[in-house]
Amino acid sequence: MPLARSLSITSLSGLEEWDEEFDLEDAVLFEIAWEVANKVGGIYTVIQTKARLTAEEWGENYFLVGPYVESNVRTQVELIEPTNPALKRAIDKMNSSGCKVYFGRWLIEGSPYVVLIDVAFTAWNLDKWKKELWDNFSIGVPWFDREANDAVLFGFLTAWLLGEYAAQCEEPPHILAHFHEWLAGLGLALCRQRQLPVATIFTTHATLLGRYLCAGSVDFYNNLADVSGAVWVCLYIITPNGLNVKKFSAMHEFQNLHAQSKNRIQEFIRGHFYGHLDFNLDKCLFLFIAGRYEFSNKGADIFLEALARLNYLLRVNHSDVTVVAFFIMPARTNNFNVETLKGQAVRKQLWDTAQTVKERFGKKLYESLLVGQLPDVSKMLSKDDFTMMKRAIFATQRQCQPPICTHNMLEDSNDPILTCIRRIGLFNSSADRVKVIFHPEFLSSTSPLLPMDYEEFVRGCHLGVFPSYYEPWGYTPAECTVMGIPSISTNLSGFGCFMEEHIADPSAYGIYILDRRYRGVDESCNQLTSYLFQFCQQSRRARIIQRNRTERLSDLLDWRYLGRYYISARHMALAKAFPDTYFYQPHDSDTAQGFRYPRPASVPPSPSLSRHSSPRQSEAEEDDDRYDEDAEAEKDRLNIRQPLTLPSKKGPALPYTLPGANGER
Ligand code: UDP
Ligand code: G6P
Ligand code: GLC
Repeated sequence: MPLARSLSITSLSGLEEWDEEFDLEDAVLFEIAWEVANKVGGIYTVIQTKARLTAEEWGENYFLVGPYVESNVRTQVELIEPTNPALKRAIDKMNSSGCKVYFGRWLIEGSPYVVLIDVAFTAWNLDKWKKELWDNFSIGVPWFDREANDAVLFGFLTAWLLGEYAAQCEEPPHILAHFHEWLAGLGLALCRQRQLPVATIFTTHATLLGRYLCAGSVDFYNNLADVSGAVWVCLYIITPNGLNVKKFSAMHEFQNLHAQSKNRIQEFIRGHFYGHLDFNLDKCLFLFIAGRYEFSNKGADIFLEALARLNYLLRVNHSDVTVVAFFIMPARTNNFNVETLKGQAVRKQLWDTAQTVKERFGKKLYESLLVGQLPDVSKMLSKDDFTMMKRAIFATQRQCQPPICTHNMLEDSNDPILTCIRRIGLFNSSADRVKVIFHPEFLSSTSPLLPMDYEEFVRGCHLGVFPSYYEPWGYTPAECTVMGIPSISTNLSGFGCFMEEHIADPSAYGIYILDRRYRGVDESCNQLTSYLFQFCQQSRRARIIQRNRTERLSDLLDWRYLGRYYISARHMALAKAFPDTYFYQPHDSDTAQGFRYPRPASVPPSPSLSRHSSPRQSEAEEDDDRYDEDAEAEKDRLNIRQPLTLPSKKGPALPYTLPGANGER
């Protein structure tokens, strides 16, 4: 079997090269998560983006284990015969004992193998397994809780799979099982209780307790001492989440993509605001928040409040900027609403009318030129053309304001976003400089309304706003960064803490980090308003410079760099479980602080100017994009390439202890 013997993670623009000599021997890695080939939120992103690097290290001995969901399998997985003989025997045995277990290749980068278990098919075991859970662990599970029931079934089935695999191996196996989040956690507990010969890792991602406590009215972080016994687990390694960073051969390709995607969002806006397009689209900034719909944990509450304040500031300052803030958070709906669909239909009709008139006009012009005459301008448009255009304009009349929500909400009257909008009065009226659009469904390129996938949409926006209160990591601002889109996060999110630690002046790079740790809600909200207002005052040129800087941070978030924490965790776990076979030498850099991106060269070093060091321009500068971007980019790159305060030859410190991010133990 082809096995990787050691892994070297290559150098990325100034970040240290990292080598870990570790012979994996015949070890087999099972990575188990409810979000394997099953998109729910950020855990899917972790597993899906990390797969390529993990497959490079583990080759044929890497198996992801997740739930079988038919619609996902149809679109993402190629079902095949199991490749590993012992695993084939284990799966066959389970299938002949009343289970439905599938094997395939997940069609993503790295094409990892997946074992998918149909938990519903084995639901007949639920009562028996719940009793076992109560007898052995004193854990009771309510009968009506679908998520908890799935966790019980998934836990027992994965432990069964691992036990069966161990039994089918001819030699004593070296199995490493990596469980993600509580939905997969029971499998780990059962491995321990059944004393399976398995090395284990658990990644918490987030805890239900954390989510519920933060979403309540307690001042969670300032009263942590009172709940600490219940909340803290012993963190061993913090594993920052990475991404697969795409590098374009043309340096400014990501800027071109921004312009293309922005045009598509503008088209949507033309339809959505038909009849009320009294603002300049060229001076329109697109802001967005996206993710799981947890109103206060994700900071949608303070975002709305700050938008109301921003609306006031833009109005009293007679700003010509219009802000459109998108809320992309899935809620219960029964499809798009009629008014929103009508908007796009009206826009399409105007477009078609313009095309028809243009064609007729062009034909007359052509015919006139063919006979050597300049056209008679007064005869270029016929009466019919005018009638058609008038009819199209009449269709743009509307009695109501442009809608806030794109869908029919099932719980409209007590939906938290809609309730808050009603209170603060942001109704998309003509006088409002801040408009709001709530799209309560994840984006999709097949949508009849806004046919863009999430990545395209992010590229077309100007700023991602993620003022979370509970956010162990937070992929959304990280995704913005690698696409060169500035973002606002907080010092309560793993991402915000990580960036604060590694960048000397984050806001100069378009990474605004809100203080939600040491300030009250109102103060944080003021800080957010001031970030938003400053952002609205930037010229186009300043935004372009800032996007260049943001994108330059991508390497820091690349799995090729961050994968090392996962790799070390795995090696450590193997050495702990199988000390006769594996030996793990911790890195000798435990006291090192890690590197820091310096302040960009073009930012003045004076502390008074650097406090809000987003790129600014003198008043004389034009609000256009004609300037020497390359020179400015090169200046900054040279600065980054100066020797950084890197830890040691061997890479960053382990264990890496960053409060508030993911933990593995
Ligand atoms: N996301 C998506 N489509 C959308 C909006 C968001 O796929 O329309 C993804 C986004 O790319 C990100 C994930 O949802 O990877 C959210 O992860 P995050 O860690 O920010 O939060 P979580 O939902 O896990 O708490
Ligand atoms: C990119 C494009 C430019 C465009 C600019 C718009 O940089 O390469 O051609 O003018 O985006 O920037 P804005 O921040 O106004 O969307
Ligand atoms: C959880 C957290 C989120 C994190 C994700 C991936 O869903 O809420 O902050 O980014 O896991 O680790």
